[in-house]
Amino acid sequence: MTARDPVLAPAPAVGSSRIHESARAQVAGRATYIDDILELRGTLHAAPILSPVAHGRLRGVDTQAALAEHGVRGVVLAADIPGDAMLAAFAHDEPVFAIDSVQHIGQVVGLVVADTVMQARRAARRVTLDIEPLPAVLTPREAHARQSYVLPPVIVRRGAPEDALAAAPHRLHGQLEVGGQEHFYLEGQVAYAIPMEQDQWHIHSSTQHPGEVQHWVAHALGLSNNAVSVECRRMGGGFGGKETQAGHLAVWAALAARKLGRPVKLRLDRDDDFLVTGKRHPFAYDWAVGFDDSGLVTGLKLTMLANCGFSADLSGPVADRAVFHTDNAYFLSDVEIASYRCKTNVQSHTAFRGFGGPQGVIVIEAILGDIARHLGLDALQVRLRNLYGVQDRNVTHYQMKVEDNILAPLITRLADTSHYTERRAAIARWNAASPVIKRGIALTPVKFGISFTATLFNQAGALVHVFTDGSVQINHGGTEMGQGLHTKIMQLVADELGVPFERVRITATDTGKVPNASATAASSGTDLNGRAAQFAARNIRSNLAAFVAGLDGCGAGAVRFQGGQVISPTAARPFEAVVGQAYANRIQLWSDGFYRTPKIHYDKATLTGRPFYYFAYGAACSEVAIDTLTGESRVLAVDILHDVGTSINPAIDIGQIEGGFIQGVGWLTTEQLVWNDKGQLTTHAPSTYKIPTTGDVPAHFKIELWPEANREDNVGGSKAVGEPPFMLGISVWEALRDAVAAGGGQASDLAAPATAENVLRALGQCGG
Ligand code: MTE
Ligand code: MOS
Repeated sequence: MTARDPVLAPAPAVGSSRIHESARAQVAGRATYIDDILELRGTLHAAPILSPVAHGRLRGVDTQAALAEHGVRGVVLAADIPGDAMLAAFAHDEPVFAIDSVQHIGQVVGLVVADTVMQARRAARRVTLDIEPLPAVLTPREAHARQSYVLPPVIVRRGAPEDALAAAPHRLHGQLEVGGQEHFYLEGQVAYAIPMEQDQWHIHSSTQHPGEVQHWVAHALGLSNNAVSVECRRMGGGFGGKETQAGHLAVWAALAARKLGRPVKLRLDRDDDFLVTGKRHPFAYDWAVGFDDSGLVTGLKLTMLANCGFSADLSGPVADRAVFHTDNAYFLSDVEIASYRCKTNVQSHTAFRGFGGPQGVIVIEAILGDIARHLGLDALQVRLRNLYGVQDRNVTHYQMKVEDNILAPLITRLADTSHYTERRAAIARWNAASPVIKRGIALTPVKFGISFTATLFNQAGALVHVFTDGSVQINHGGTEMGQGLHTKIMQLVADELGVPFERVRITATDTGKVPNASATAASSGTDLNGRAAQFAARNIRSNLAAFVAGLDGCGAGAVRFQGGQVISPTAARPFEAVVGQAYANRIQLWSDGFYRTPKIHYDKATLTGRPFYYFAYGAACSEVAIDTLTGESRVLAVDILHDVGTSINPAIDIGQIEGGFIQGVGWLTTEQLVWNDKGQLTTHAPSTYKIPTTGDVPAHFKIELWPEANREDNVGGSKAVGEPPFMLGISVWEALRDAVAAGGGQASDLAAPATAENVLRALGQCGG
């Protein structure tokens, strides 16, 4: 073989739909989740003791009956914490176990530890708590009235919204309530804590953020971070719910393991998982908007009340992201947004796909829909009228220039391919002839900012090893939760080294390999860790290129890596052979890589700057039908055009778009969280909490990718995809409001989720 006739090179891995690196193992039941890890001898199991009261003084804990139960080995309470009794969460406002007060139903007061999980759970119910009840605050409006907040408010303002409102030809004002959402990851929260020698700890945690779990466990045990290592091979879903809240379980399991001197596993029962952990923040809004005859918004005043639950958790950045996304795709010239972070006696609400973005986007989409109905205009025309433009209308309310705007061409193209205008006319004809079933349609866009708004988190590390047989092993700081991060990173590294995808493997995320990693969140897993891994592989490649250049007397730049070959101007050698020879010549065959996102900065106090490296865009056109007698609804047809830049893996990206969209539809249609007047979450199991199933996927569900690379220099020309499509689900909710209006109801009365009851209420067909 000569250099001119290299090889029938296999196609590069990047850009092709490689199957998910765990797919085969997952369908065969051979992929290991934490509860599948073979248990060490002496492993004990823990179960939580939960507060049955939403707010009260905790006067005593009687564990006698529980301790007398068969198999019970001990009870762990706040007094057993050797380190800080407060979690190392950033606001430092959350006790590890309730100390002298309880703050929501389901708050963990302690653990019962037993030989088996069922023994532990049974015994946990036999612990009696002496609680003196106190008044509980259950809704954000109530909390706002009492000025009960977990964090101070943030107010972002531009221009003179009051004057603009006063001068506007038209004004509307309204209120909106949007519900929360349970993550319903298929694998519930779980941790397995193993004491090692000399007060060192190994923790298996189903977490999006092993580094934070490490830090929290060390803090609670009173140790340095170097005494704790945390490992996660994969999660059975996270969706934001395991960004901080996996840490609680790890801390609890570690405290039990320390007290009993045994490995301890803690796996929450599904009902307990609902009761203990936080959800998407429910929001309440008050708004007033001024606009002209064409529907152009001239002034907006908005108050957003985030129901944060009893502690801050991630509520600050979640509520910030809601503020950052209240513009969605639209230029708001004169605007004031006041964001309140309300403290209530419920679970501490947390990250959930979109991270507050959806709660920002939905309110502006609702307002534009209401404006269109008020003026008798087509809602899509009103949306187009308000879009960000290229000049003068291209700076956000937080002072970031929208440089990569593709909104107008993207929306226009989707309107074309989905036949929006013809279908709107056909739907009007249908509605005129159909007394009971009414249809509706809506086309809504999304513009989602990519980067952690906390600039420091936008860094990542990776470690790539080439072994002497030429096989490649990657480790990086990101975690796999089903989103395909590991697969994409394997593709990137395979191409960087010019080896077949099959030669590359990935190992469990481990704080002992790549330290101080950020959470896998904000959709930026591939952007950050993919680049770091690519850089690590590039270092190895340049070591090998220099070595081959020395052998062949050429420049290192003339050496190519492709199709499993290392090709110089004079010779082509198998990658394995070069690796073997390089090893014999003491060339380094492994490397780290580090990446930090350029260009971003922002001022936390004023919420201004460039918090995002770029925006991801998309749009969805959804058609729905409602039954005006029962309130039931159905999604009939959905067309999506979404921007993932140059796709690293189209099958995975389309999977993320489908899954994100359907999860967004679930949030706004059937997934209703109901807390009763005692603060008890009554929808705490699949029997009462309805997530979408395959039966809810519309018969017509067409997804296309926008054919353009990321205009910023991002890994492989790609764009982040994990969260943005979630907000396309809002098109279904807007279409439902359109159908409610067609049925003679008040569209603006439709709360989210649009359950059958809420649809009937908006139609004026049922009381209360
Ligand atoms: N996809 C699956 N299958 N499971 C998940 O838990 N989480 C979502 C999204 N897609 C999730 C998912 C959330 S909330 C985020 S932030 C991103 O994936 C995180 O991964 P990424 O940064 O690698 O996209
Ligand atoms: Mo996703 S909500 O950023 O974990």
